[in-house]
Amino acid sequence: MKTLLTGGAGYIGSHTAVAMLDAGHDVAVADNYYNSSPEAIRRVEEITGRKVSLYEADVADRSRMMEILRAEMPDCIIHFAGLKAVGESVAMPVEYYRNNIDTTLTLLECMKELGLTNIVFSSSATVYGEDNIPPFTENMPKGVCTNPYGWTKWMQEQILRDAWFAGAGSEKELSVVLLRYFNPVGAHESGLIGEDPQGIPNNLMPYISQVAVGRRDHLTVFGDDYDTPDGTCRRDYIHVMDLAEGHVRAAEYSLGNRGTEVFNLGTGNPYSVLDMVNAFGKACGHPVKYEIGPRRAGDVQDSWANADKAKEVLGWEAKRGIDEICRDAWKWQSGNPQGYGE
Ligand code: NAD
Ligand code: UFG
Repeated sequence: MKTLLTGGAGYIGSHTAVAMLDAGHDVAVADNYYNSSPEAIRRVEEITGRKVSLYEADVADRSRMMEILRAEMPDCIIHFAGLKAVGESVAMPVEYYRNNIDTTLTLLECMKELGLTNIVFSSSATVYGEDNIPPFTENMPKGVCTNPYGWTKWMQEQILRDAWFAGAGSEKELSVVLLRYFNPVGAHESGLIGEDPQGIPNNLMPYISQVAVGRRDHLTVFGDDYDTPDGTCRRDYIHVMDLAEGHVRAAEYSLGNRGTEVFNLGTGNPYSVLDMVNAFGKACGHPVKYEIGPRRAGDVQDSWANADKAKEVLGWEAKRGIDEICRDAWKWQSGNPQGYGE
């Protein structure tokens, strides 16, 4: 299968490129390096011993994307490209709506013109909103999002579903696979690729990693007065290579099927903030310093997946647990203390 990964130089895209190549598929990547580096793709090639067709491109640039898609004619597009920082999206909503929605509209226009039918989209558990009770199942109604980033995912799901619906039953019927990720963490086990956030990390695991490696003094735990066993929030942390392998199965599934299907990609197991701090301390061999701070606005107490549908339909389930997650995150962080910047 020929795949095109938009945003493929980023965190999840680069790991998915490895999993795709390892599964024997071909990979092309289109990325504008807004939040990534071509070095990630060089390392993907080093890990797999295979070549990637790499294009520097803004996925919202229609003529550039027509050129790339004409050259590649992929069997499946996996659309990772997007802006993803929740807090930044509150401060820069227009940029978030423009970039995230435009990239999806542009891809759909190009696909229509070229007769391409298969797209897998990076959605998020954030579309379940605040009122659904975990474990979240795909047939729950989508909820109310708490920030513009979440709404862009909510809207992109709707746009993709509407685009499929318009051609349903015709020869040009699309295959749309919406993947709702839970909390992707960890790194490839080689330690060569991993998450490389710019500036101060917003997310828990990169923050813990940077404390462990000495780049930051301590972690602030956002609230210990939630109604959970240790008072801290619970999440479904999924190893990024499990997530990547889920994309391989989703893309393969899309080839034989038309329609719109939604899949949770999670483990089904919730862990608290302090569980992750303790597991990381074991992996790196010393305790991770933390202080308890106030709750962070917009955080939900609990979020985890019911992951049965992906197992039943895609034959995929997460295999790695929090010990592997912390081991691999530590290998990446300790081997690359400044990320790709070194
Ligand atoms: P990332 O920032 O590492 O990767 C996104 C990539 O898209 C980057 O390489 C960036 O340079 C590129 N990009 C952004 N806008 C572009 C544009 N207009 N044209 C070309 N390239 C562009 O983020 P990630 O963690 O790998 O996330 C990938 C996708 O998964 C995103 O859509 C994100 O919203 C979604 N997602 C991520 C998480 C998470 O926790 N990491 C959770 C749920 C969903
Ligand atoms: N946390 C801390 N200290 C930190 C960072 C995070 O205590 O410095 C806590 C948070 O309060 C939360 C947990 O760690 O309880 C996980 O936080 P993350 O920021 O790592 O992840 P979120 O679950 O908040 O966010 C993730 C994705 C978003 C997505 C959201 C909702 O990163 O893209 O899930 O599905 F929108």
